[in-house]
Amino acid sequence: MKILFTCLGNICRSPIAEGVLRKKISALDLPWQVASNGTNRFHKGEPADPRTISVCKKNGVDINSHIARRFKTSDFKEYDLIICMAEDVFDELQQFVTDNAQLKKVVVKSIKDPWYGNQDGFDECYQAIANYCDILIDEIRALKP
Ligand code: 4NP
Repeated sequence: MKILFTCLGNICRSPIAEGVLRKKISALDLPWQVASNGTNRFHKGEPADPRTISVCKKNGVDINSHIARRFKTSDFKEYDLIICMAEDVFDELQQFVTDNAQLKKVVVKSIKDPWYGNQDGFDECYQAIANYCDILIDEIRALKP
């Protein structure tokens, strides 16, 4: 199972999700892979936002090696599940679609964008993502025959 989290900039929501899910699947010894990227190129090549790094560190999630990437059409082939972290992310994803069948792999989980807020917003964002990751793990495990 290869899971991709996609947000807009790949510096706030999706790096948190990648780090949190990776930690959880490692603790459960699940053979899944997890990655993240963003639909825009504004922060490509940059580390995560300092507020993202801070909230992750506080929760024992290491994302120091994160480098922001942009979504590319081949990701539809590469991943089994693509999680758009807001409706506007899903809208932006449309520019990479070359075949509507690619959208079968895509789900939307709306997580409030913390970018314009303060550190408290990142704490809320982290909690919402951590809760979602628990649900996601249960859902994926339930798919197994
Ligand atoms: P993210 O947050 O999509 O969760 O990484 C954002 C980061 C940057 C911008 C918007 C959202 N931006 O407009 O630069």
